[in-house]
Amino acid sequence: MMDHPFTLKISPERGYLELFSNHITRHLSAMRNQFLDKDAYESILKKEDVLVYEVYESKRPEIAGELLHGISIVHPGKVGDEYFMTKGHFHSELETAEVYYCLHGQGMMVMETPEGSWTVEAFNAGDLVYVSPRWAHRSVNTSLIEDLIMLFVYPGNAGHDYRTIERQGFRKMIVDKDSQVAIVDNPHWISPEER
Ligand code: F6R
Ligand code: ZN
Repeated sequence: MMDHPFTLKISPERGYLELFSNHITRHLSAMRNQFLDKDAYESILKKEDVLVYEVYESKRPEIAGELLHGISIVHPGKVGDEYFMTKGHFHSELETAEVYYCLHGQGMMVMETPEGSWTVEAFNAGDLVYVSPRWAHRSVNTSLIEDLIMLFVYPGNAGHDYRTIERQGFRKMIVDKDSQVAIVDNPHWISPEER
């Protein structure tokens, strides 16, 4: 099959939904055990199953050679001290990278390797974040007012491994500490030695 090239106009005014072929929504109930503060999690959930983030995908075949792309929007908010964030994942095909371009807002990309190395990149609108092959990644919205809107592009054969992060967590968490954004250790992280 040979597809014809195409153009997508990316602008919030046009509504991403009209331009992309798939809309994924992640509510708080889908993020059980991801945030550290369980009491805060349950008390928000009791009031409302808030929309934490959403993804507009341009559907492409999930095969090597294709580039999967879309827009992610992490809404502003916190669970306890922890800012709203994506679930995060490794690519099933570990040796595949990803590019994120920040269109709006501010955030941090929390990353780590299977061996437990970690890094956190802070970014603003106009910045590109390159997630190298082998690094699990999670985007965090460090604004409490504005949406974090990112364009992402990654190889068609990457696949997603969510289970590993669900089990072991990320080593670092991004929290609001006295109204400052802080990177802290996740006390529940399971290190490579403990796995
Ligand atoms: C794809 C990718 C992004 C995320 C999106 C939502 O490989 O990294 O498109 O899928 O930011 O995050 P997750 O997939 O972790 O729920
Ligand atoms: Zn990814």
